[in-house]
Amino acid sequence: MSLLLGVNVDHVATLRQARYALLPDSPNAEPCPLQASLDAIAGGADSITIHVRGDRRHMQERDAFRIREAISVPLNLEMGVTAEMIDIALRLQPEFVCLVPETREEVTTEGGLDVVTRRREVGDCIRLMQKAGIKVSLFIDPVIDQVRTAAELGAEMVELHTGCFGNAIGEDVDKEISRLASAALIGHEAGIQVNAGHGINYQNCRLLENVAHLSEYNIGHSIVARAMRVGMEQAVREMKMLMENYAQ
Ligand code: PXP
Repeated sequence: MSLLLGVNVDHVATLRQARYALLPDSPNAEPCPLQASLDAIAGGADSITIHVRGDRRHMQERDAFRIREAISVPLNLEMGVTAEMIDIALRLQPEFVCLVPETREEVTTEGGLDVVTRRREVGDCIRLMQKAGIKVSLFIDPVIDQVRTAAELGAEMVELHTGCFGNAIGEDVDKEISRLASAALIGHEAGIQVNAGHGINYQNCRLLENVAHLSEYNIGHSIVARAMRVGMEQAVREMKMLMENYAQ
């Protein structure tokens, strides 16, 4: 099966909010996350990912509903495990949700969701989503206990946090690859889909070739940054080409 690419367009909204957060209805508000989503799809994105955070620092609820209405590929909503986000997800009806930890101080999602200690509330949230026909992914660190618990809780997918891999230098790179590989193998053996995300870019994505059983990458920052030079469609096309070359 070919490796899929989910494109996270949050940072298009980050740029818009930097200027227009206090002018939500301004006709000048740009850039547009919906247009970026459509351009990403034209470049080959297999799904679009958005994260409506509790602090609304980038994506707004209305962005989510506009994107939901307009796109032709699955929508993946990243969400904190909160009553507010559960309500949004149930109204939005994305194909997938990815449950993430969320604290106000972090710059972006900084660690995986601890599904071992938060087992009960994560399990409740999974059941609510699945009852509504929404598939659930859990964004977890590449730690065996986390993967096993995700499978026990009945999640369809895990997304392994590749942030440490992305930041690793020298011999730590191999260590991170082997942590990811062990976690991916456990997920695969437990029969759940294993995805990867956070900090994946045009250079390090080649190294992930050494991690078997990955189905999908979720990539935001590097693609949005590349889009500043070549446009979103081309930035996504370039990433897809890199992924296709080593997925064969
Ligand atoms: N996956 C999850 C769960 C995330 O929270 C993020 C960051 O928003 C990403 C993937 C994408 O990470 P990056 O922007 O570093 O590509």
